[in-house]
Amino acid sequence: MAIHKVGVVGCGLMGSGIAQVCAMAGFTTVVREVNQDLVDKGLKGIEKNLGRLVEKGTITEAAKNEIRGRLKGTTTLEDLKDCDLIVEAIIEQLPAKRELFAALDGLCPAATIFASNTSSLTITEIATATKRPQRFVGLHFFNPVPVMKLVEVVKTIATDPAVYEEMVAFGAKLGKTPVRANDSTGFIVNRLLVPYLLDAIRALEEGVGSIEDIDNSMKLGCGHPMGPLTLLDFVGLDTTYYIANIMFDEFRERRFAPPPLLKRMVLAGWNGRKAGRGFYNYADPQKPTPMKI
Ligand code: 3HC
Repeated sequence: MAIHKVGVVGCGLMGSGIAQVCAMAGFTTVVREVNQDLVDKGLKGIEKNLGRLVEKGTITEAAKNEIRGRLKGTTTLEDLKDCDLIVEAIIEQLPAKRELFAALDGLCPAATIFASNTSSLTITEIATATKRPQRFVGLHFFNPVPVMKLVEVVKTIATDPAVYEEMVAFGAKLGKTPVRANDSTGFIVNRLLVPYLLDAIRALEEGVGSIEDIDNSMKLGCGHPMGPLTLLDFVGLDTTYYIANIMFDEFRERRFAPPPLLKRMVLAGWNGRKAGRGFYNYADPQKPTPMKI
């Protein structure tokens, strides 16, 4: 079955990025949010990104208009019922995801493929809210979605191999490099990334180095685009804390256990860039300054 029309549920940071890359890759795309304000906010962000690409000469104004023409926002789930593929990028909570997919299962034809962008929940547990776990995969994108070249394509023990191959091909059509992962909590990237980020916090807690020196070490010593504490602020400390707790519950290994400092920063609302402060203060977003911790 060929994919022509893609539905994206959720038009936040991840959902809007996914909708943008789908429309850019030529797919008719419908993105759904719970209210018109959120639809407008998401589409405005996409407009801004496409505008930047025109300014840089990456795409023409005409191409931008074509991409925009392929993309529609909605608040109505029914508008997704004739999609060949639906990618979910809503809040990272199992009951909300199961409820959404149960509703979509009732709306969409049996052939529609469902995918979740979850970073830490078990795909199998989401898929079993539907009567089509064989047509259910994980498609895990990375932030910022239009820039990051990877998509993890996740199969469960119930996924039909033909559906899985179609989704691997779909990832490539989006211009991403698809990697194959099994439905193991955190998949490949977070399995490796989360313990690294948590270790950076432990290094800070133990006084191994300052915020800036820990970041500069990994940036300049290992060629990472961002140091781990900057990356934590970028991903969100609340998000990382949530993922770490799920991974710790699953594996019961210390490397996934959230350090006390992370918990306290989340409790204090220091959730990173989006909160104006985390390991850095973003009063001037162009010049973040390290917090005194
Ligand atoms: N949307 C679209 N494009 C963006 C963007 C955004 N939010 N942010 C940056 N860009 C583009 C810029 O326009 C620029 O494009 P150009 O090269 O064509 O001019 C390019 O990305 C580089 O941007 P900048 O020059 O402004 O800044 P940097 O060179 O510092 O790059 C970065 C920014 C791409 C975010 C880079 O720092 C980076 O790769 N950081 C690491 C990000 C990362 O690790 N993400 C994964 C997080 S883990 C995750 O998402 C999984 C989840 O489960 C937790």
